[in-house]
Amino acid sequence: MKTLSLNKNKIKIVLLEGVHARAEEVFRKKGYHNLTLINHSLSGQDLKDAIADAHFVGIRSRTQIDANVITEASRLNAVGCFCIGTNQVDLDAAKMAGVPVFNAPFSNTRSVAELVLAEVVLLMRGIPEKNAAAHRGEWLKTARRSFEVRGKTLGIIGYGHIGTQLGILAEGLGMNVLFHDIEEKLPLGNAEASESLNSLLAESDAISLHVPLTPQTERLIDTEQFQQMKDCTILINASRGNVVAIDALCAALDSGRVAGAALDVFPVEPKSNDDTFVSPLRQYDNVLITPHIGGSTLEAQANIAFEVASKLVRYSDNGSTASAVNFPEVMMPDLTHHDVQHHRMMHIHKNVPGILQKINQCLWAEGINIAAQYLQTLDEVGYVVIDFEAAPAKSLLEELRGIEGTIRTRILY
Ligand code: NAI
Repeated sequence: MKTLSLNKNKIKIVLLEGVHARAEEVFRKKGYHNLTLINHSLSGQDLKDAIADAHFVGIRSRTQIDANVITEASRLNAVGCFCIGTNQVDLDAAKMAGVPVFNAPFSNTRSVAELVLAEVVLLMRGIPEKNAAAHRGEWLKTARRSFEVRGKTLGIIGYGHIGTQLGILAEGLGMNVLFHDIEEKLPLGNAEASESLNSLLAESDAISLHVPLTPQTERLIDTEQFQQMKDCTILINASRGNVVAIDALCAALDSGRVAGAALDVFPVEPKSNDDTFVSPLRQYDNVLITPHIGGSTLEAQANIAFEVASKLVRYSDNGSTASAVNFPEVMMPDLTHHDVQHHRMMHIHKNVPGILQKINQCLWAEGINIAAQYLQTLDEVGYVVIDFEAAPAKSLLEELRGIEGTIRTRILY
């Protein structure tokens, strides 16, 4: 029996916005050479023309893939957002068109953790204000309020990808690590879960926030929380701007409750590098302000390229949609280890009763024995991947496409 193999040269991949070269490496290594690389973002008709016959499209944060663009890109199989956010894609329209969207939510974990650790060290020594003063010609040579981090307690709020990584790095410098999370978390290293948020606030010398923005975390650190902190605490926020109440932080800086802070994220951030950054925090020498670059390193860009390109390749090669942000998630085993040469097809359809039965009827009519079937649904969309043993006749695809409610179908092998 001969396996139908994917003709990868027919699969057109368009990468916009100068996606890191690591993505190209991943595609070529996996046999995908039909690549179009564009180093800027496109919009309007230019975008539609560029991706009109593309099977896979990779973008970063500037290219807007709206419902109209998706409708016109009739061959589009999947979109890769080579970044963290996916707001630039109409995720519902993509889902209804049978187009999973992938991103790389955790590729810059290490970059954030390293920056935060460096900020803990700098703030403990009072470096930001000494640096600012020296730029003005002042010489603040003193050991007053200057501390080593060794033996101090770092309180981590949100013990997820970044929080855990930061805890490990901080222990390497001899810090004690306390954490608070709303979920039960296994402590790494010698870290300890604090009894409550308040006890973490009361016991920490430096506090760093690593939570998502949710209704519960909005203004999580407000006047009341500042009151729980030790005098001269250090506060770092590289999570989301609205997690810290800026007015309350200013009051805590004025009173000395907070000796120094580092902020990478703000309730309102400039839309581009040409806009002015407006914030009451600009007046404080002891506040390190960075322009939302916690995760912005070349290593993170390379990791993002690797992660997203790998997800697109995996979807193309074996149908896996694991970690897609808008799509039923099906995790597929590779077929290479099977004893029998199997074939695999995927069928994306409206999530209405009876479709699976009709698909199985088509296979039965062709005398095809189903070896495995993986189905997941998400809201109005269903996604089934079927492995079978007989080589499919060419007519099978047409029959499957004819089933009412079919959005997209493809035979992979
Ligand atoms: P994650 O999802 O791995 O971890 C978040 C943790 O926060 C989870 O363990 C969760 O259970 C916990 N959590 C949620 N609500 C909580 C609450 N009310 N109280 C305490 N814990 C709570 O996320 P990750 O990757 O560690 O990212 C954390 C934050 O960092 C996110 O807001 C993310 O957007 C931000 N981020 C910022 C970057 C930057 O450039 N500054 C780059 C990357 C991420």
